[in-house]
Parts: sequence; C-alpha cells; structure tokens
Amino acid sequence: MEAIALTRGVPAEEALPAAKIGEALEAALQKNGPVILQYGNIGGYPPLRQYLAEQYKVNPNEILIGNGSLHLQDLFAGTVIKPGDTVLTEQPSYDRAIKTFRRRGAKVYGVPMEADGLNLALLEEELKRQVPAFLYIVPDFQNPAGLSTSYEKRKALVELADKYNFWIIEDVPYRNLRYRGEAIPLLREINPAHIVTMSSFSKLISPALRVGYMVAPADLIARVTRLAEETILSPVLPTQAVVAEFVQRGWLDENIASLKALYEPRLDAMIAAIRKYLPDVTFTPPDGGFFVSIVLPETANYANLVERAQAVKLALTDGKTFFADPLPGQDDTVKDRFVRLPFCAITPAQIEEGVRRLAELVK
Ligand SMILES: Cc1ncc(COP(=O)(O)O)c(C=O)c1O
Repeated sequence: MEAIALTRGVPAEEALPAAKIGEALEAALQKNGPVILQYGNIGGYPPLRQYLAEQYKVNPNEILIGNGSLHLQDLFAGTVIKPGDTVLTEQPSYDRAIKTFRRRGAKVYGVPMEADGLNLALLEEELKRQVPAFLYIVPDFQNPAGLSTSYEKRKALVELADKYNFWIIEDVPYRNLRYRGEAIPLLREINPAHIVTMSSFSKLISPALRVGYMVAPADLIARVTRLAEETILSPVLPTQAVVAEFVQRGWLDENIASLKALYEPRLDAMIAAIRKYLPDVTFTPPDGGFFVSIVLPETANYANLVERAQAVKLALTDGKTFFADPLPGQDDTVKDRFVRLPFCAITPAQIEEGVRRLAELVK
C-alpha cells in the first residue's frame, strides 16, 4: 500500500525552481558579490528591501527581512512580550506560532474562528478582561483551517486594535496563492497604525531560502532589528539576493502563475474527495492556500485517529496541536475532531485515496 502524507504544509517538490535559483544566485553574485558575501545590512538586502517598500507603499525602514517569517515572529515576540502578558490567536491557529509565543513567555489564548474570521463578540469580551501584547491572525487561507477573514471583520479588528491599543500581526504567506475570487484588502490597507504584516517567499519560491519579512512602523522595526542583530549578527544575504533577482527578472510572477496552475486542481480534488467520502463533516472550501480542514461529526470514530491511520499508511497531524488555551468559559473539545488536510504536495490521486482511507477510519 502506498504511504500518503496528509501532514505536510510544504510546496510540491516538482514546483521548486532549482535551475532558476542557481541562475539568479550567479547573476546576483556577479553584480553585487562584495555586499552579498559580507556582514551587514541587518535590515535586509537593500534592493529587496526597496522592492518590498514599494509593494507595501512604505519606507524601507518600515521593512525588516529575516530568516523566514517564523524567525521574525520569534524576534517580534521577544521584543514586545513582557512577563504576565497574554497573546491572542485564532482558534485553531498555526501550531508553531502558538509554541513560539509561549516560549517567549506569553500565556496564549485562542479566540474561536467562524467561517468568516474571529468571533468578534468573544474577542471583545476578552479585550475588556485583559488587553493582549498582540493578536496573531492569518487572514488569507489560514493555516490550519483554510478560512479567510471577511472585509467587515478586518475592518472591525483594525478598529478594536485602535480602541484597545494592541498590535495585530497579520501573517499572510498564502495571500498570493489565490486560485479564484477577489483579494480582500490587508488590514494594513484599512489602517496600518497597529498592524504588523508578515509574509515570506517560502511558499512562492522555496522555503529553504529562508526569506521572510515584516512591515511595521519604523520605531518597532528598529527595536526588532536590534534583537535580530544581537542574535544572528547578519542576515543570509545570498538568498535574499536570489529573491531580489527573481523579482527583477519577472520570475516571481511566473512562478506564482505556475504554482496556481499546479495547486488549483489539487484543491478541487480535495473538496471533491471530502464531499464524496465524508459527506457528514463540517467544512468551508477555501479559494486558495495550502489547507482544507474538517470537523468530524461527534458520532465519528475519532479516538486515536493519528495512530490508527499509521496502520493504513496514512500520516495525519493531531488536530489538538493547532489549539491554544481556550478563553475562560469556552469549550474547546472540537479540537479532538479537527483534521487539517494539506493538499499542495500530493497528487489528486493521492488526495482521493488519502481521504478515502480517512473516511474508512472514522466510520
Ligand atoms: C501561517 C504561517 N506563518 C509562517 C510560516 C513559516 O514560514 P517561513 O518559512 O517564512 O518561516 C508558515 C509555514 O508553514 C505558516 O503556515
């Protein structure tokens, strides 16, 4: 029986542009070798910083480029979290972000998600109890749930951040992988005052380049940059230069177009397989990104699911890892029935077979 991994939120191997990365590195070194190979430019490779500043319509000193966006989440958390602070996330949320914020000393609470974003009534109730150091959200094609935050909720979140005075991280690594429908404005496009935007080229070119970035007010960028310098001394400029070269050559747009062509049929295969084999689950089909998620019905056989799946060569992630502590009084037992289903790194045939095996297990 073929092993199938419904665990990995990674790009498809066949989509990694090895030859172009080689060519881009060579060209960048020819042009700017002494800068790229030297210590310095802790804020990022200047041409890439300039490009991102233009994209986001900010000054280059409002951009910090780091070794992936998880690295920047860690540095941001290390800069702003004080003893006793709370951090709020969506419930469910990106498991590594939850762990990172806890490791930096925060108590992390999850605010339940609805199909169009956070439950705002529960969020505001919590804000009245305690204002967090920050709220972390993934508004476009969320990891793990695949959900997106509506424009109305983005507007309301920006207003709440203003009213209660806290930061919101909008983490948008999947934003450009929209397979259909219209883009919804970023929170920063509504009002940037309390917004830290993070993203990366991991899903658009290659994760191993480790090029991610944050966009925030210059004084906050300066504080996070100090911690970056103290911990990594100098960023990985060669891979940042590869990204800059990709952009200048028009290869980024080309790459995004070919990723969409590869991934959209996989999303369709996942949606079709869920409808066919798991007609009783609750799920919201996304318009982009890497993930569909489902909530199994209470009557499903979900006990020890991850272990039982191994016996039929199906790898699943334990849904509980995506859940932070529940807000006071909130029941979070849904975490036992939550299953994340990444669809980009496997073929439509593997997707169908994987979901078929899953459906057999939960009967
Ligand atoms: C929502 C989210 N943020 C951040 C990351 C980490 O990205 P990077 O490779 O830029 O560190 C991921 C990776 O899966 C992710 O899903």
